[in-house]
Amino acid sequence: MKIYHLAAECYPIAKIGGLGDVVGALPKYQVKAGLQAAVALPFYDRKFVHENQFDVIFRASTLFAGERMEFEIWKEKHDVLGFELYLIRIPGLLDRPEVYSYPDENEQFIAYQLAFLDWINWSQQSPDIIHCHDHHAGLVPFLLQYSAIYKRLANTPTVFTIHNGQYHGAFGYNKFKYLPEVDMRYAGLVDWSGGINPLASAVRCCSAYTTVSPSYMEELSWQSNGLERLFQMERHRGVGIVNGIDSLVWDPEIDPMIPAKYSAADFTNKAANKKALCERFNLDPSLPLISFIGRLVTDKGAELLAEAMNRSLQENPGKVNFLVLGTGDKPIEHSLKGLMDHQPDHYRVYIGYDESLSHQIYAGSDFLLMPSRVEPCGLNQLYSLRYGTIPMVHRTGGLRDTVIDFGDADGYGICFDKTSVDDICYSVGRAIALYADTKHINQLRTRMMELDFSWERSAKQYTQLYERLIKNI
Ligand code: ADP
Ligand code: GLC
Repeated sequence: MKIYHLAAECYPIAKIGGLGDVVGALPKYQVKAGLQAAVALPFYDRKFVHENQFDVIFRASTLFAGERMEFEIWKEKHDVLGFELYLIRIPGLLDRPEVYSYPDENEQFIAYQLAFLDWINWSQQSPDIIHCHDHHAGLVPFLLQYSAIYKRLANTPTVFTIHNGQYHGAFGYNKFKYLPEVDMRYAGLVDWSGGINPLASAVRCCSAYTTVSPSYMEELSWQSNGLERLFQMERHRGVGIVNGIDSLVWDPEIDPMIPAKYSAADFTNKAANKKALCERFNLDPSLPLISFIGRLVTDKGAELLAEAMNRSLQENPGKVNFLVLGTGDKPIEHSLKGLMDHQPDHYRVYIGYDESLSHQIYAGSDFLLMPSRVEPCGLNQLYSLRYGTIPMVHRTGGLRDTVIDFGDADGYGICFDKTSVDDICYSVGRAIALYADTKHINQLRTRMMELDFSWERSAKQYTQLYERLIKNI
């Protein structure tokens, strides 16, 4: 079975958040399970790739917005990532240093999708499944069926995975002309609220859509940034599949980015990781260490961190340390930097993106705080479970599906009901009390480190879905 994944991110080539982790791991586990999985990614920039590891296997031009658009397909030579990787290079559009945030982002991603389809079509390939991730690849299911150019491929089953339903990639009808050889009669299939909405179009036109957790599938019907009615109508076609983690990258027993290795059977070395981390940030390792890693945006509840940490430190003087790693909205960064002036002894912040440091924090912290308002799956809590670090989470989306409160049967985490300063502070109190009970906390660590959130399990669910779609067509 040949599958093409289409997405804006793929670790380690281009990763901004969890989408990159998933697209860098799922195909690898699909290949291990005997499927032929490939990823077709936008090129972005030469800084991401070693040119001598790629062959340019295809060059062509296509009509885009009334002009000829040249494009190239680069193929990674040795499958070093564990799957076939193709980069779609479009001079002037997809050869820039950043992954997102250009004013002509719509043009970039439409061009990416057209170049992919043209390549597949002209090279006479017939994949069994085209698996699109998020709105950046959301027009593919529509184009396959309704653009006269891709008639040959019209029956190819498509899966659309929603990693984040808050972002739709919407734009105005003045760009309908970018969609080649499509009859205006079908415009309703890309429309939402009078504009072109790639996320809505993908949900309508794909063979099946998935979310990255079952709870998030339910939440989309009442919280999807204006698409609620669509999700209520299409609910019966969707399925929630929880993400896995790449245990070849995220395993404290072999992780090259952490100073001391450990496992569920013997995690005494976790303390050595904490010591190294605390030395680097000049924190007292005898106190419980609560960390946050993530994008500093309101979806993650990050704007509450400074106030919640300040209050917790005032209520529990000298009893806890906090560490934040993140980058994002400037006012949030500013508030977190400002807290250093008020809490110079028990609080540290690192504004920036640092993959190795994130591994060291998962390994060296006692608790990982995730007060997310919206969390379609969340990978941080899965990494933290693997590293024996107790997740403190708001019960939402994938966090609800993957973390059980330690007060409940078979539980191991700390859960709270609201993204609020009160709930965070209350949970910090519970964490401090739990930390004082070494025997109990160690039991929880063993329990959580033995949980199975491997991709093997989740990849199987995607395969079952693919098989069902292939048989139906
Ligand atoms: P999202 O995709 O919404 O950002 P996820 O929990 O799915 O959230 O994934 C976030 C991923 O990005 C994790 O691998 C996390 O470790 C990583 N990450 C987020 N911020 C940073 C940062 N500042 N430095 C290093 N890694 C980060
Ligand atoms: C998105 C979501 C996150 C999820 C990730 C990977 O970025 O915000 O919750 O884990 O995609 O699916």
